[in-house]
Amino acid sequence: MEIKRKYLKEVNSTNLYAKEHLVDTEDRTIIYTYKQTAGRGRLNRKWKYVGEDNIYASFVLKPSNRLEPVYANLTQYLSVVISRILEGYGLSPQIKWPNDVLINRKKIAGILSESIVRGEELAGIVLGVGINLNCAKEIFADIDKPATSLFLELGSFVDKEEFLEELYLNFFLYYDKFIRGGFPYIREEYIKRALFLNQMVKVAGSSEIIEGVAVDITQAGALVLKDNNNNEKTLWIGDIL
Ligand code: BTN
Repeated sequence: MEIKRKYLKEVNSTNLYAKEHLVDTEDRTIIYTYKQTAGRGRLNRKWKYVGEDNIYASFVLKPSNRLEPVYANLTQYLSVVISRILEGYGLSPQIKWPNDVLINRKKIAGILSESIVRGEELAGIVLGVGINLNCAKEIFADIDKPATSLFLELGSFVDKEEFLEELYLNFFLYYDKFIRGGFPYIREEYIKRALFLNQMVKVAGSSEIIEGVAVDITQAGALVLKDNNNNEKTLWIGDIL
């Protein structure tokens, strides 16, 4: 498989760059940088720059010119792809709904997807990913949640270019099947790595914090919570606290 890539020496955010250059960027291109100065995270958070030996990349995807529900699950598909790669290193990653990848409850990868719609048409999807490959513990000192890197877990340096290639090839290996099959195609793979399933959780939604037992992940990738009165609530967006 040919890898379509674009390397930027320095950029504010690979997602922002990909959105700005969407029209002249080919479908299935990966845009990456060694220096990201204004990385963006989910729910309006920031993504810290943790050094040049880590991954800051955005996939540009143009699967069709109409928005389909399955595109919302691309982040979950990517979280499964990253987990599989990390398992190849002998690690046991877990996925925190909807798409954080953790090792021993510490975050190693974050994903941010943005769809660009013009009028009725979908211009493309920018699927951004940050992966901590080679950073030391001290760099996470000012981050409020536990984080780790592949280097910290393995005790050895990981080649960034090699990892990036592995990421690209693995992502596109089952991409077409996933687009056709939707979340059900990866549901089992996702659930077997899902952290907090059958546990009591607090989820920050768009306006409130909801508490309950995480009982299921639906066929559409949503999280089902059951409260003390056995009422079920299905969540599409949020952050497990
Ligand atoms: C999150 O966990 O909140 C998502 C983090 C996504 C970070 C990546 S790094 C490359 C791409 N460009 C950005 O500005 N953000 C994503």
